[in-house]
Amino acid sequence: MTLTTPTTPTSLSSSTTPVPPQVRTICCLGAGYVGGPTMAVIADRCPQIQVTVVDLNAERIAAWNDADLSRLPVYEPGLDAVVARNRGRNLHFSTEVDAAIAKADMVFISVNTPTKTRGIGAGQASDLRWVEACARQVAQAARGHTIVVEKSTLPVRTAEAIQTILAASQNQLPQRPTGNGEAPRTFSVLSNPEFLAEGTAIADLEAPDRVLIGGDDPAAIEALAGIYGQWVAPEQILRTNLWSSELSKLTANAFLAQRISSINSIAALCEATGADVREVARAIGADSRIGAKFLGAGPGFGGSCFQKDILNLVYLCRHFGLAEVADYWESVVTLNSWQQQRIARLVVQKLFGTVSGKRIAVLGFAFKANTNDTRESPAIRICRDLLEEGAQLAIHDPKVSEAQIATDLGQKEQQNQHWQLVASPAEAVNGADAVLVLTEWQAYAALDWPALAGSMRQPAWLFDARGICDAAAARAAGLQVWRLGAAYGNASSGE
Ligand code: NAD
Ligand code: UGA
Repeated sequence: MTLTTPTTPTSLSSSTTPVPPQVRTICCLGAGYVGGPTMAVIADRCPQIQVTVVDLNAERIAAWNDADLSRLPVYEPGLDAVVARNRGRNLHFSTEVDAAIAKADMVFISVNTPTKTRGIGAGQASDLRWVEACARQVAQAARGHTIVVEKSTLPVRTAEAIQTILAASQNQLPQRPTGNGEAPRTFSVLSNPEFLAEGTAIADLEAPDRVLIGGDDPAAIEALAGIYGQWVAPEQILRTNLWSSELSKLTANAFLAQRISSINSIAALCEATGADVREVARAIGADSRIGAKFLGAGPGFGGSCFQKDILNLVYLCRHFGLAEVADYWESVVTLNSWQQQRIARLVVQKLFGTVSGKRIAVLGFAFKANTNDTRESPAIRICRDLLEEGAQLAIHDPKVSEAQIATDLGQKEQQNQHWQLVASPAEAVNGADAVLVLTEWQAYAALDWPALAGSMRQPAWLFDARGICDAAAARAAGLQVWRLGAAYGNASSGE
């Protein structure tokens, strides 16, 4: 699927299209971080609807069906309880994709849309091969009237490509065997981007700031609004056209990421000048026009979406000849990469210019707290840079597996001499020259610094890239402390 120049959208639905008055069966293509939790909450709030989440990945589906709820493939606080309440009742996880599509009144497309790694737009454009495959599969397997909902984050005007694929199948097989009284196949396409954040997915889904529905078929829009209306207040369900809906999702992520790059840029200036980024954030956040959220300086944003969605926006801007707009948004990603690089460099510099053979305790590998997701985690680049410098890393994370870290660091489990996953912060810190805090897990805010400092090789450092540790207690225990966005440990700070 390639990006096309805007044309008039293909409308698949007319006012005579038979839209089910009530959606009774839903199929979700993609049982990932979005598909799984989103459908679990829909099933929970709409007991009258049968919801089937399907995936090509049989291992993932098996994990969703695991009797042991601690083994669900996605870790989200509260998710296990929602799955336990509904699984087997009106929430099902299956690899039978065609069968689930055939039964569904509504099909959500919730598959991955990563950045293209090769070909036209490599490094920026979204790879839409999985979305296109879904559209083709729906075109083949659907029966009767089907509302197709884009849940994945997509470049503006992707709905047009989906509509075109569905329309072609409608034209080819307008009356698929109807001897048994089967209704003709028709489709409506909606955009319904997801705004949940990982770690708070269940809370975000149960009480969203807003639900956004884009489309050009009022009956389909109302069918989807009716589902959310089971638990979301009417004024929080926004209706718009397809293109505004698709672009709003990319824009929301771009604005959020921009705030992080903005505060991280100021954090660096704070370190250089003796100001404290937390004080600056508090002061500017008190301005209701700016607001207090998303002003936490850190090691740079990670996660599967911010970078890919901004790069996609950049690609779209260039595609439409808006070079300056593209450059503006690209700088948000540039600043983020710089932030990650500078932390690794700073650790090396503070440890007398070399970390070769030195043990460094890395606390946190997930891209944020309360998730097992490591996609684009700042820890990946920072750990890779430190390994490149010859460091020995003792990594702790309460939720991330050794296999995942091995994949992320490009090194096989058990076969490396240079990093290990350890069971506790105390084990990581034992014998280390430095502790580097990269994820804001609550447990790291309450570490017993007097006990930990005694087990480290002196002189020892705490590098707190999340600003969550008790810096005063660490200093009192004899550690040198660098906290992101503060002047501690800087020669100029006078501390
Ligand atoms: P994910 O990689 O966790 O899950 C996607 C799943 O889709 C995978 O399990 C994959 O096997 C499956 N899949 C791929 N092709 C398929 C097909 N043809 N049929 C059935 N299953 C198929 O991805 P995710 O994090 O859930 O993200 C999905 C989409 O939602 C992306 O577009 C992302 O940008 C967007 N999004 C993600 C988040 C988030 O917090 N992760 C939040 C909002 C929006
Ligand atoms: C983000 C958005 O918040 C969601 O609305 C959106 O649906 C989602 O992307 C998506 O499209 O995938 P998510 O990436 O799960 O959600 O988590 P965030 O809480 O946004 O955090 C993203 C990154 O920014 C993390 O690495 C986090 O540590 C970092 N961050 C966040 C900061 O460094 N400072 C902050 O103040 C906030």
